Amino acid sequence: MAKVTTSSLLKMKQEGKKFSALTAYDASFAGAFDAEGIEILLVGDSLGMVLQGNEDTLPVTTDEIAYHTRSVRRGIKQSLLIADMPFMSYATPEQAMHNAAILMQAGANMVKLEGGQWLLQTVTMLTERGIPVCAHLGLTPQSVNVFGGFKIQGRDEANAKRILEEAKALQAAGAQLLVLECIPASLAKTITEALTIPVIGIGAGADTDGQILVMHDVLGISSGYIPKFSKNYLAQTGEIRAAVKAFKEEVANGTFPGKEHTFN
Ligand code: KIV
Ligand code: NA
Repeated sequence: MAKVTTSSLLKMKQEGKKFSALTAYDASFAGAFDAEGIEILLVGDSLGMVLQGNEDTLPVTTDEIAYHTRSVRRGIKQSLLIADMPFMSYATPEQAMHNAAILMQAGANMVKLEGGQWLLQTVTMLTERGIPVCAHLGLTPQSVNVFGGFKIQGRDEANAKRILEEAKALQAAGAQLLVLECIPASLAKTITEALTIPVIGIGAGADTDGQILVMHDVLGISSGYIPKFSKNYLAQTGEIRAAVKAFKEEVANGTFPGKEHTFN
């Protein structure tokens, strides 16, 4: 596999080839995922939950994401590396510029931000200054306290329409990728078809251009609650490399996510 870039992902979308993404937080797992050809690795602020044991992602800091980004960077040969901007690290465009630069200098190829309309100017400013942006809509976990829990988004018509409009606006503002989390499959399909940029789904059905999962869910080591949209690939393969390979293959051939992983 050649180095994955925003242009190679765009080409995959245009050719109808599905790509896969996993979270990664250290050099060893990143190296294994990269070697199995996982196109995108995300240093997600999910690390606040799966590594630190917090109940949500809010306690995570930019310095913590930068630390894990440096580690993951050392494990990568080809995958595109995205770093999450944590809660309140991009509340103003100025804060976003400052903190995104820290993550890029730690080795990220792109940063990911949660939000719609209010972020448009920030997305443009980052992109103009050489920082590619992955947008994130739907169930944006940093807003869990506003949502009143981890709830599916975009179920009513007004909300669905707003998410679609925000997706288009984020693309127009310069976003080069979009993550859709926990929305009905039909809405994710509409958005994926409406946008020229690649769309990555998690709990968003089978029709997005790519799929992302948290590595702990894929390897069945998340304690307690396993989300409906996830799949434990270690259980069916018994070996970490084989589990990653199976995830990639099932995404590429369209068997993951199945109906049982999808919200309607
Ligand atoms: O933090 C994370 O792991 C994420 C993915 C679930 C998309 O944002
Ligand atoms: Na995240």
